Amino acid sequence: MTRRLAPSVLNADLAQLADQVRLVEEAADWIHLDIMDGHFVPNLTFGPPLVAALRPHSGRYFDCHLMVDDPEALLPALAEGGANGVTMHVEALDDPARAVRAAAGHGLDAGLALKPATPLETVLPYLDTLDLVLPMTVEPGFGGQAFDDRVLPKIAAARQSIAAAGRPVALQVDGGVNAATLPRCLEAGADVFVVGTAIFGADDPAATAKAFRELIDGGER
Ligand code: DX5
Ligand code: ZN
Repeated sequence: MTRRLAPSVLNADLAQLADQVRLVEEAADWIHLDIMDGHFVPNLTFGPPLVAALRPHSGRYFDCHLMVDDPEALLPALAEGGANGVTMHVEALDDPARAVRAAAGHGLDAGLALKPATPLETVLPYLDTLDLVLPMTVEPGFGGQAFDDRVLPKIAAARQSIAAAGRPVALQVDGGVNAATLPRCLEAGADVFVVGTAIFGADDPAATAKAFRELIDGGER
């Protein structure tokens, strides 16, 4: 199983975004970009123009987490701007199958995210077409929140369902992932680790990202 580190720039210095990405790039597989609309979540960040502006500064896979009421509306501009994958919240979608098809139609990998209280069953019908499942381990909207251990059984159940589906669906964790909680996520079967404040809130984000890389790769042995 390929394990991936996806630093989230939400709590990085957004005024120096390209430089912040460069700091963690060597250790990172993906760069996680949190797009929020102030409606689906009570925070407002950035959108497709920023993704496009960042694109020339990094060769990494851009993993866009869409915390918005109408994720499908953003797909054309994100694809045009150079995003690689989009993760849409199942709570925001009338027709998840259509949204996943639309993302694929734009050449984007498609993921579905669930808030902590949303049952895994809401995404299971789409496992045959999905590229990624994200059971959120905090209430989406802000970085720096505490990891919710109660989501671990949902992560383990997702791993079992993915194995049963027999497809390479990535299992991402996002929210409160740090050196103490990451091993629990690994144990539960997660393979893509979003890490925000634990990297960008550290004194040395580059060294910290490398340490996370080793933690993830060490778990492989
Ligand atoms: C929160 C975002 C996360 C956030 C994670 O809604 O989806 O990606 O940046 O930050 P930490 O790692 O600080 O919880
Ligand atoms: Zn996120």
